[in-house]
Amino acid sequence: MILDNKDITITVIDRQNESHEISAPVDMNLNLMEVCKLYELPVKGECGGMAMCATCQVYIESDHILPAQNDAELDMLDQAFFVKSNSRLGCQIHISPEINGLVVRLAPESE
Ligand code: FES
Repeated sequence: MILDNKDITITVIDRQNESHEISAPVDMNLNLMEVCKLYELPVKGECGGMAMCATCQVYIESDHILPAQNDAELDMLDQAFFVKSNSRLGCQIHISPEINGLVVRLAPESE
């Protein structure tokens, strides 16, 4: 569903299994890692969104079809820990109307 206003809602389940419903603007060119940090969720995003650290890894728990992973994301997930078939890098998920209602779970931290 596409909303008329410029915010979408995303549910983020943290590592304590707690759900956080957050809203994110679609017109500010943000990604999911950045939005999680804005809400002070425990997402490090150490590389600043360059697909080079995997500290923003999430598992997609809703049935949204996201744009395909680019090579950088695939390469990083190849080297990351705790990767599952529904793993994505939060920094590579662009906040757009198409992902309204997305549910993601934060992957465990690797250290
Ligand atoms: S913030 Fe480093 S891979 Fe996403």
